[in-house]
Formats: sequence, C-alpha cells, structure tokens
Amino acid sequence: QRGKWETRRVAAPKADLLLTGARLATMAGASGLGVVEDGAAAIRDGRIAWAGPRAEAPAIDAAERLDCKGRWVTPGLVDCHTHLVFAGNRADEFARRLAGESYADIARSGGGIAATVRATRAADEGALLAASLKRLDALLAEGLTTVEVKSGYGLDEETELRQLRVARALARHRRVSIAPTYLGAHAVPPGGDRAAYLDLVCDHMIPRIASEGLADAVDVFQEGIAFSAEECARVFAATRAAGLKVKSHADQLSDGNGAALAAEHGALSADHLEYTNDAGAVAMARAGTVAVLLPGAFLMLNETRRPPIAAFRAAGTRMAVATDLNPGSSPIASPRVCGTLACVLFGMTVEEVLRGFTIEAAHALGRGDRIGSIEAGKDADLAIWSVETLSELVAQIGPSPLFARFHQGVRA
Ligand code: NIG
Ligand code: FE
Repeated sequence: QRGKWETRRVAAPKADLLLTGARLATMAGASGLGVVEDGAAAIRDGRIAWAGPRAEAPAIDAAERLDCKGRWVTPGLVDCHTHLVFAGNRADEFARRLAGESYADIARSGGGIAATVRATRAADEGALLAASLKRLDALLAEGLTTVEVKSGYGLDEETELRQLRVARALARHRRVSIAPTYLGAHAVPPGGDRAAYLDLVCDHMIPRIASEGLADAVDVFQEGIAFSAEECARVFAATRAAGLKVKSHADQLSDGNGAALAAEHGALSADHLEYTNDAGAVAMARAGTVAVLLPGAFLMLNETRRPPIAAFRAAGTRMAVATDLNPGSSPIASPRVCGTLACVLFGMTVEEVLRGFTIEAAHALGRGDRIGSIEAGKDADLAIWSVETLSELVAQIGPSPLFARFHQGVRA
C-alpha cells in the first residue's frame, strides 16, 4: 500500500528528492507490475517516503527535484544468485562442451568448479576484488542495486573467508547492497576427504560465519556430482542451528527431489530446478520457497529440459530470475540478457521476469520487506529507464537503456 506521511509528527513533509513525471512500475501487490502513470516518489534519508499518483501526492517540500519526463521507473534490480567473486576463466571448457563433453564429464575430470578453485586460491584479495569489480560494473550498468554473492570457489577456510570479505568490500567501492552467501558445500575440495570436509563446513565454518556475521545464508549444490540429499540435509540443519538462512542449487542436472528437500528445511529459495517434479513445486509454494530460475546456465550447458514453469504457476510458487554469473555454467554478466533468455527459453512473461528481478528476487534473499518494490519505507533503490515500454528491457539485446540508478536515495 502507498505510504502516508507521518503528519502527526511532521507538520510540513520534507524530502531530499522528489521524482515527478515518472511512470512507476512499483511491483507492489502480489502480482502485476503495480503501474502508476504520472507518478511521483519522494525520498528521504535513503528511503522512499511516499510513492503514488502525482494527483494524490501531498504538498512536499523537496530539497531537490527530478522530472523523469515520462520515463519508466522500476525498483533497482536485484540479482539474487551470482558467483561474482572468482579468479580466472573457463573458456576452454566452453570449447570442450562444444566438442561433446558434458558439464558433469568435465567436473569429474578435475575441471569445472575445481578449476576455478585452483585459480581463486592463487589470487590475493586485491586481484580478486579488481576482477570482481569489473563484473559488478557490468551489472550496475543495467540498473542493479542489490547483488547476492556466493563463496564456494575456495573450499578451504582461508579462501572461503577471503571470498566473503571481497564480497563485502564490493559495497565499499560501489553504491550497491551485497547479500553474501556461504557456499562451502559446492564441491568436495580437490584431493580432499568428503566426510572431513563436511565436518569442517557444518561444525566449524557455518558457526564461525554466523558468529562473525560474514554471510546471511548458506547454499549447497545438491547433485550427483556434488552432495547427496543426506549431506545437504546435514548442512541445512547446521545452517538453521546457526540462525542463517537456507538456499539450495537443486535439481539442475537430475531430479534429486532437491526442491522438496529445500522447502522442507524452510529455504528462502531453491535454484535452477530444471528437473524439479510437480510435488517439489507444490512443496515450495507451501513453504514460501522462491524458485530462482537461471536460464543462463540452461543456455550455456545446452540443457534441453526446462524448469516446470507451468507447475510453479499452478502451485503459486514465487518465481525469480537471476544471472547465476559464474565462470563455468553461466558466464553472463547481464540481467537483461538473462531476462530475455527466461522469456524465450522458459516461456516466462515479461511481467514475470520483471517481478523476478525485483520483488521476487528480494524475497529469495529474505529482504522482501526492505527492497524490491517502490513503496513507502523501503530503501530508495530505483532504476530510471529511457524506454517507452518496459518490454523493451528484455525485447532487445544491446546497449543498456538505463538513464539513472539510485541506491538508498543516492544517484550512482
Ligand atoms: O550455479 N551448479 C553449481 N554451481 C554453479 C556453477 C559453478 C561452476 O561451474 O563454476 C551454478 O551453475
Ligand atoms: Fe549457481
């Protein structure tokens, strides 16, 4: 709902910035884009103080005004699944897949995640930060204001913590909110002992990361080439015991009932989901677990099995879309391209994709009360677009039509 000024305490409502002439896509409400033609939005102390039709706006004493001249204004985009912090690249594996090897074949032969682990362990904090900032800048150029960043390319204590420190440092170098996620259970470390590694993740790393506030959530890769359902259940239990949120890479390459397992553990999201069955979709809807769809990985792995979008719609499962930006399965630093792919490859609607990169993505991070829509009280994270229709955001691949980006009320 549109906010009201607290008129009892503030006689003459003041704002730091007033946007007028805006076509707002607020994303308020359980569905739809929440469109307000001829809208206005007032920003104060980094938050949205008021948003709605100009005709209903109270008299506002604004320090600064910006006439949007009919441009579309959306919430700042939220990329709720990235592996942004890594070193090296895996273009050689792209060529190997073209020649017929599968992603799983390459992983079993010592490539894949293990290859990026070797490169990331060898990179110091400065190198890792510099490489990550380049990728982050590509995302910000497309209107991102919140980015989730996973670890998982260290698989030892020192490197995992370095990745999480670099993730946090990104927010000191750019105007962006970072949601860090610990993905220790991404793979068994090269040459490592499976049982001993899981003990380290569950008994040492998760409690340490929770007590030092280094991540909001803990993710796993549940798959034949990674961790079993039982192993993931143990990680989830340790995560909840430590007071962190659960996330899962589930059913990406095979149906492991990963969606249902994540839902059972109250996961914020289960991600990928190409092989998820209908019961999993229903379990997710019941638990409020968001389905995070990653069409970049589907494209780059030449996958043919589509996630069960119809089942998610029928069950009422929330759907988000994300880049999965990583050096192997989804080397795509463009939320807009991933939005295009979600439409073309998965049959999602433009509306689903726009909600999927804003309010639904916010829910996938447990931040649905703070970001993802243009509503009073939320962070003033906004993207202003030089487009005539919002479809243009995903109907073409090319230069970013971003006109301006505001992060917590500050133009970035
Ligand atoms: O989301 N599925 C597992 N993890 C990543 C890919 C990691 C990699 O290949 O480096 C993903 O696709
Ligand atoms: Fe991923």
